[in-house]
Amino acid sequence: MKQLVEADPAPISAVRKSQDRIKKLALIGTGKLGEGLLSALLQSQMLTPERIESTVAHQSRADYLAGRYGIKAHTNNIQAVKGASVVLIALKPQQVKGFLHEVRNVLAKEALLVSVAASVTTSLIERELGHPARVIRTMPNTPCLIRQGMTALAGGKHATDADVEIAQSIFAAMGRTVVVDEKHMDAITALSASGPAYVYMIIESLAEAGVKLGLPRDLSTELSSQTLLGAAAMVLHTGEHPAKLKDVVTTPAGCTIDGLLELEEGRLRVTLIKAVVRAAARARQLVESNDS
Ligand SMILES: NC(=O)c1ccc[n+]([C@@H]2O[C@H](COP(=O)([O-])OP(=O)(O)OC[C@H]3O[C@@H](n4cnc5c(N)ncnc54)[C@H](OP(=O)(O)O)[C@@H]3O)[C@@H](O)[C@H]2O)c1
Repeated sequence: MKQLVEADPAPISAVRKSQDRIKKLALIGTGKLGEGLLSALLQSQMLTPERIESTVAHQSRADYLAGRYGIKAHTNNIQAVKGASVVLIALKPQQVKGFLHEVRNVLAKEALLVSVAASVTTSLIERELGHPARVIRTMPNTPCLIRQGMTALAGGKHATDADVEIAQSIFAAMGRTVVVDEKHMDAITALSASGPAYVYMIIESLAEAGVKLGLPRDLSTELSSQTLLGAAAMVLHTGEHPAKLKDVVTTPAGCTIDGLLELEEGRLRVTLIKAVVRAAARARQLVESNDS
């Protein structure tokens, strides 16, 4: 699938270098997000099925993944990480420690660990492994599943620039990527990882408005979804401040200003800001419970 708003693609040379360096990728935890990442990696031809070994908790799920994607899939994490040059951890945050303890004696010292687990810090992973592991913490979002994602990446203490480049090439196959300081990860979790849920609620509400005005629901949902997509693309394409783009839509004494006044009265802006701040506070709490 073509990206609707083209992100800067990873340079082909970087992708090739990464493909060469990923002799084997162990995908640990292949649930909703893990399967999406797997599917995007294969579709983008970043990796071929023979280079991927994935694990899950249940054999029936492993059988489904093996059948659908032609990869090796099972429930044995130790077997999966053996010989893996990159270990992509897509477990629930509270499952990560147990996994690290399980594999720390078989994991190659030079293996690169890439985690998508919310709130799990690179220092936690380094500490639990007990050696100066090369770790990249990432925060993707669900639009990665259709290669329209936004992924932030942060390197741990021992990760090299080449490691960050490998992880970035993996996620560039699924959308936009940005390299950040790890201290921003909780804010990013609350903004772009939780963000699709907020946006779905906005789309749903706009669609309801159309229904209230007599539009068929399907049409109303299409109109509201494409409007959000188009407006977001305008921000990314033009680089303009959103307020300036809003002014272009808002004709003096037109209808848009009436709609905007309602939004201000309903405190849309402050509500969205408070939602993200609250979610970030929750992300910080998860760090504490994971780090303890
Ligand atoms: N969903 C999002 O929007 C999003 C965004 C950014 C980051 N994340 C992060 O992505 C991670 C995964 O989230 P998810 O929504 O994909 O969760 P999920 O659907 O529950 O997937 C977890 C997977 O882990 C497997 N599993 C459980 N225990 C295991 C073990 N000991 N060894 C190997 N595999 C095991 C499960 O296997 P079975 O299927 O057999 O039970 C399942 O496939 C989380 O850390 C989350 O913070 C999610």
